[in-house]
Amino acid sequence: MRATAAVLYETKKPLLIEDVELLDPGPHEVQVRWTANGVCHSDYHVINGDYPHPLPVVLGHEAAGVVERIGPGVETVKPGDHVCSSYIPSCGRCGYCIGGQPTMCALRDKPRWFMLDGTSRFRKNGASLHHFLQVAGYATHSVLPEVSVIPIRPDAPLDVVCLVSCGVLAGAGPVFNRAKVPPGASVAVFGCGGVGLNTIQAARLVGAAKIIAVDVMPQKLAWAEEFGATHAVNAATEDPVARVHALSGTAGVDFAFEVVGTQQTIEQALLSTHRGGTCVVVGVSPAGTRLSVDPGLLLQQRVLTGSSFGGGHQRTDVPMLIDLYMSGKYRLEELITRRVPLSELNHAFDRMLKGEVKRSVVVYD
Ligand code: CU
Repeated sequence: MRATAAVLYETKKPLLIEDVELLDPGPHEVQVRWTANGVCHSDYHVINGDYPHPLPVVLGHEAAGVVERIGPGVETVKPGDHVCSSYIPSCGRCGYCIGGQPTMCALRDKPRWFMLDGTSRFRKNGASLHHFLQVAGYATHSVLPEVSVIPIRPDAPLDVVCLVSCGVLAGAGPVFNRAKVPPGASVAVFGCGGVGLNTIQAARLVGAAKIIAVDVMPQKLAWAEEFGATHAVNAATEDPVARVHALSGTAGVDFAFEVVGTQQTIEQALLSTHRGGTCVVVGVSPAGTRLSVDPGLLLQQRVLTGSSFGGGHQRTDVPMLIDLYMSGKYRLEELITRRVPLSELNHAFDRMLKGEVKRSVVVYD
């Protein structure tokens, strides 16, 4: 069948919005008609070349839509089911999945730009296009491995809950799953964009007493306060480590979350914790990034760790966050600054880089 897709042929060049061919779903694959896909910085890492990737590629990994067709052997979804994309598949059978870490699934060892059989379902002029993270959400339709879709409740608006497929779970999950922040804790969040706002919102949800937002953009700090930050620190005008220490009242916070992905902000986040504190890296760093850390900080029993796709159980965490939203306990609609057609995707990335939007969402007719 035909689909319309945004294709990256060359780094640092605009995506081409074009008509492509989509092959039928193979065994254990599903064809999905996307309703919406959120515009995420991780796609931009590929566009910019910070995250080397085989080209040409159909980007997009924060999608929600409706299953249209299923290939042989598919058992967990049927045509008509609503799904979120899962940019990390979980097979349910490997040691990681059985051991309780499905975001570390062994399928991550396979090329993440093809179906599990090592081939593509997109063609343009006879040549294959790669599927970004086996999702390819910047397309009206795509084919995914069955293990890359998460069934969700049918009454949730797809153009809102698509955000849970990446930014919302990536930001909120570490609070629940990696740090396990208890009520009354002190928390600092470095980076208050579309992901960091979810870290802040989750910290509020679990009852953190102090939620210190750190960013360099006043607009993002204002958003942070709307989503539950109790204090805002502008790192462009003051030393964020010293300020977090002072605000914490305990020479550092219990938990720091880094949601930017630079050496400086990761080191600052670690330094902003007190002895025995925990720093969770959520931001995606450009390839080649390295840290310089005094091991003495670790001897003081600080924990430096990271989180992939929320660090929990994506197949239950995505529906759980959607339930929280549907029951009025979690704000998703307020994360969306703009809804745009696919034809405006290049523009949406420009707005993201300028810090003008919390999240843009590409919607399909
Ligand atoms: Cu993302």
